[in-house]
Amino acid sequence: MPIEKRKVLFVDDEPNVLQGLRRMLRSMRDQWDMSFAESGKDALDLLQTNNHDAIVSDMRMPGMDGAQLLLEVKSRHPQMVRIILSGQSEQEKILRSIGPTHRFLSKPCLPETLKQTLESACILHQTIQDPNLIRIISDLETLPSLSGIYEKVMAEMEDPSSSLEKIGKIISTDIGMTAKILHVANSAFYGQHHHVSNVEQAVMLLGMNTLRALVLHTQIFSTFDQKTVNNFSMDALWNHSITTASFARMIASEETKDQWIIEDSFASGLLHDVGELIFATNLPIKYDEALALARNEGLVRWEAEQRVLGTTHMEIGAHLLGLWGLPDSIIESLAFHHQPSRSGNQTFTPLTAVHIADSLDKDDQNETTINDHGQFDSVYLEQLGITKRIDQWCMA
Ligand SMILES: [Fe+2]
Ligand SMILES: [Fe+2]
Repeated sequence: MPIEKRKVLFVDDEPNVLQGLRRMLRSMRDQWDMSFAESGKDALDLLQTNNHDAIVSDMRMPGMDGAQLLLEVKSRHPQMVRIILSGQSEQEKILRSIGPTHRFLSKPCLPETLKQTLESACILHQTIQDPNLIRIISDLETLPSLSGIYEKVMAEMEDPSSSLEKIGKIISTDIGMTAKILHVANSAFYGQHHHVSNVEQAVMLLGMNTLRALVLHTQIFSTFDQKTVNNFSMDALWNHSITTASFARMIASEETKDQWIIEDSFASGLLHDVGELIFATNLPIKYDEALALARNEGLVRWEAEQRVLGTTHMEIGAHLLGLWGLPDSIIESLAFHHQPSRSGNQTFTPLTAVHIADSLDKDDQNETTINDHGQFDSVYLEQLGITKRIDQWCMA
């Protein structure tokens, strides 16, 4: 069967830049159907008559700039992947346009980087079949936070004597804020030697002025409205996530000296059930129905999600944070934390730490029947040769 080509639109007001992109991406002609536009207006006209999978736009353009264009594309064609390709000097302006932008790339951009970014973002869309779910994910700009933590961060932001260290520590205990800060930091510092998975480091990289602008003016954080889903408790999700994160970090630090694996294990543990938060805030009625089904029929939660919503919290969480450019090890932990053997990975990674920590947390009050936890993937643990150590961690 012929593979369907991805349709990608490139926008830049400088014809030379478009010409350069055309040349650079010639080898992709078999896989991508590429269009080129010299202004935001031309791009919107083109999109009106032709569906596209992704748009890659310059930031500084006369008339409509890249941020305005992507905002318009987000509202007219919410399912599209939106990428800014721009100069480093515009970083602060770029960060303020984080809302409608999924990924940022800096010029000059290596062809491989551009190809990889576009491919990984577009492949994510293929994993979910329901166009409504794709639209919800592409449209999401923020994830809600626990109200107590949100208020604490806001108070620190308003306090001129506060420090980045203090703010970073608070943010690192919240699921929604951690996801968003890692989105911003990994976008803004793309091309660094390594990804950013430590929130305190991410906050330091951004600096106080940018952080204040993002939080107070761009409003990258928001709070959760508990009234929306009867069977779901944000407090319970938070307790379970922070326990899993701390435990995953402890397990990782016993298994490896690699600081990246240890840091990624904490972030992965905190974010592993972010898909539940996405369901609870965007599809509250359906999600309530899934949770009721799990309770009434004694199903594990992800099975009930699959039946009612046609996807699971693992898939949807990995999809959103993948689109936001979070590190691969975090995405892998989100996607496979209930069935790690499906990852095909046979070495110790943050996924291993999260699977064990998640399975050992028996106190998740969101679980009403057979819970998703306490169910080890014994084949996977046996392959890694760590089955015997489970008892030792159980007692920790
Ligand atoms: Fe889960
Ligand atoms: Fe979990």
